[in-house]
Amino acid sequence: MKIGIVGKGGVGKTTTSSLLARALVERGRRVLAVDTDSNPNLGLSLGLGVAATEALPAIPRSIVVGQRGDMTVAELMGDFSVVTPEGVTLMSALRVDEAAAGCTCGGHASVRSLLGQALESETDDTIVDMEAGIEHLSRSGGTLAHADVLVLIMEPSRKAVITAQRTIGLATELGIKRWIGVGNKVDSSEARTALEEMCLEHGVPLDVVIPSEPALVAADLRGEPLDQTDAPQVWAAIESLVDSLALEAVATV
Ligand SMILES: Nc1ncnc2c1ncn2[C@@H]1O[C@H](COP(=O)(O)OP(=O)(O)O)[C@@H](O)[C@H]1O
Ligand SMILES: [Mg+2]
Repeated sequence: MKIGIVGKGGVGKTTTSSLLARALVERGRRVLAVDTDSNPNLGLSLGLGVAATEALPAIPRSIVVGQRGDMTVAELMGDFSVVTPEGVTLMSALRVDEAAAGCTCGGHASVRSLLGQALESETDDTIVDMEAGIEHLSRSGGTLAHADVLVLIMEPSRKAVITAQRTIGLATELGIKRWIGVGNKVDSSEARTALEEMCLEHGVPLDVVIPSEPALVAADLRGEPLDQTDAPQVWAAIESLVDSLALEAVATV
């Protein structure tokens, strides 16, 4: 399954991408995680450490991936990915290393081309941790046009819910048919109720709720992944996210 993780800045896209990738590996699936942030840090959340995250080469810009393109998927993964300690294969797509190096459109085109391929021979699930906002859906062609499902991350704020609402509109235009709404950093029952009401008002589903979790903040400060044994409520929410991905996959076959 090709999964795009999207939402407003700071809502928890990278955190959720890393937890979801690890949970899927736990279930025995081969997972490719693609960091499309121009300031990539998914590697840290996946336990790669600062040096290895910094050393990860960006995939070439504007390449056409596929048998008759510039590189096959296997070649791309062989040359431009690293496997994290827990077994997630990680790629960095849009890294910006120099000032004034130009726009990242070519990187978006590479990701779009990769997602357009049948990836089954190399990976079971591809998780794309998107840069904040909705530009990736409005760029010509849409970076995520070939995604099977979008995971809309929202914190309990109206701006986050409105971003998700706009995302659904653009996704529909691109022909993406499925999305899952995830509330993150929900720190009280009042916040949960407020988020539920806003989602209802703006036509955004709220399928999974991840609590606000100090252990996540602490892990982030250390530049390390969340321990498997810490924060059972967070892991339970991630399990329910995995379940909703699988359930909907069966339902649409
Ligand atoms: N459930 C949560 N509880 C508490 N803090 C969280 C939670 N999810 C994310 N955070 C924190 O919020 C900040 C932004 O998260 P991040 O995943 O980097 O967001 P994004 O990728 O959307 O910009 C980080 O400091 C992270 O540790
Ligand atoms: Mg991020």
